[in-house]
Amino acid sequence: MKEIIINGGKTLSGNISIGGAKNSVVALIPAALLSSDICNINKVPNISDKDALIDILNILNVKTNFENTSVTIDSTNLKNTIIPEDLSQKLRASYYFMGVLLAKFKHVEMYFPGGCNIGTRPIDLHLKGFEALGAKISHNEKTHIYTLDAQELIGTRIKLDFASVGATINIMFAACLASGTTILENAAKEIEIINIADFLNNMGAKIKGAGTSTITIEGVKKLKGATIDVIPDRIEAGTYLMIGAMIGDNLSVCGIEPSQLKALFDKFDDMGIKYKISDDKVTISKCNNILPINIKTLVYPGFPTDLGQPISVLLTQANGTSYFEETIWENRMQHVKYLNMMGANIKLQDNTHSIINGPTKLKGCHINATDLRGGAALVMAGLIAEGTTTISNIEYILRGYENLINKLSKVGADIKIIDV
Ligand code: UD1
Repeated sequence: MKEIIINGGKTLSGNISIGGAKNSVVALIPAALLSSDICNINKVPNISDKDALIDILNILNVKTNFENTSVTIDSTNLKNTIIPEDLSQKLRASYYFMGVLLAKFKHVEMYFPGGCNIGTRPIDLHLKGFEALGAKISHNEKTHIYTLDAQELIGTRIKLDFASVGATINIMFAACLASGTTILENAAKEIEIINIADFLNNMGAKIKGAGTSTITIEGVKKLKGATIDVIPDRIEAGTYLMIGAMIGDNLSVCGIEPSQLKALFDKFDDMGIKYKISDDKVTISKCNNILPINIKTLVYPGFPTDLGQPISVLLTQANGTSYFEETIWENRMQHVKYLNMMGANIKLQDNTHSIINGPTKLKGCHINATDLRGGAALVMAGLIAEGTTTISNIEYILRGYENLINKLSKVGADIKIIDV
């Protein structure tokens, strides 16, 4: 067990470099298995979700070799083995092996994926897509194993009921080795999906329209080896920028694609928060008069649900009342209890609506991370709080924020991890 200890109230200055996007790399690593050759992925973030995926590759007899932030993946001896339940449960993205193994072997047996407890997180849209491509699916209630079988995968028209990120990527995986063309409508439009499609196209796939709501995938017989760079993590960047808006003094967040943070910058504009964009860097300082706002998380390019919990901390420092609505997940308010313990004044109307009254002074105390982005919100709270904050269950946070302690210490935070 590890805990994060923060002595809050320090001003942060200097540069924070952003790593590769978690939500991209967790799909790019499984995607490499679609190739019949060796693939390279660069700018891989050092997060524990990546480690869990590498453990899964070992089970599937795939060789990996890391050099700094680049990984070589050799899946020439890929074996279609069932991934143990505890590994599948370690992360949500284990579901990507369903699409990949179905495409390669036309037969998959898999446990239900895990991930943060931020909602019910069904996979019905993934399964409906696989079925439309020709897979027969059964679920064993006792063992919890899903079995997918297909004689052949045949391209077809699939319309998602909801623009799910995971279902869009998983259906792209299954369809890129199917015969014929798949037209995926109401697809998710996230930049991470373009990153995955670029990797597959580098392998020889024929995917058009990634980043729009209609993606066309013309199936090919085989995919070759390819290289891809993971795009910068817009959620990690957004988290540090919000910290900068509260305690920064020319804090620069570097190595990012600022256009990918437009939804956050629109909110900064409404809140009166100033920032300076230059190429791949954004510089920000403490804003002394943060204005309250109304905010609703939405599918891309709306305000990202993954920045919803972090922005709730920023709103505790606004001068007035803000209204917040979460529309993607139904259990993303677990951090609120801990923010209120620290002195915030956040009223939960129900599981998805809150009213945040600011400004409130926060005081350090012992709190628990309950999920990845909620945990990041607690780190933000600890950094601005008076006194010492101790955060338990930090494994959630390390799933998605690489070198968190080093990055924050380097710019002046008093933060450390201890073993307990
Ligand atoms: C991905 C991201 C996650 C982010 C989310 C929304 C990864 C690894 N994770 O999660 O950080 O919060 O996108 O931007 O990329 N749904 C169904 N049936 C399905 C699939 C989804 O009903 O089969 C619903 C979910 O319950 C949820 C909504 O669709 O309400 C969004 O889910 P989805 O976009 O699939 O999220 P993930 O891909 O799991």
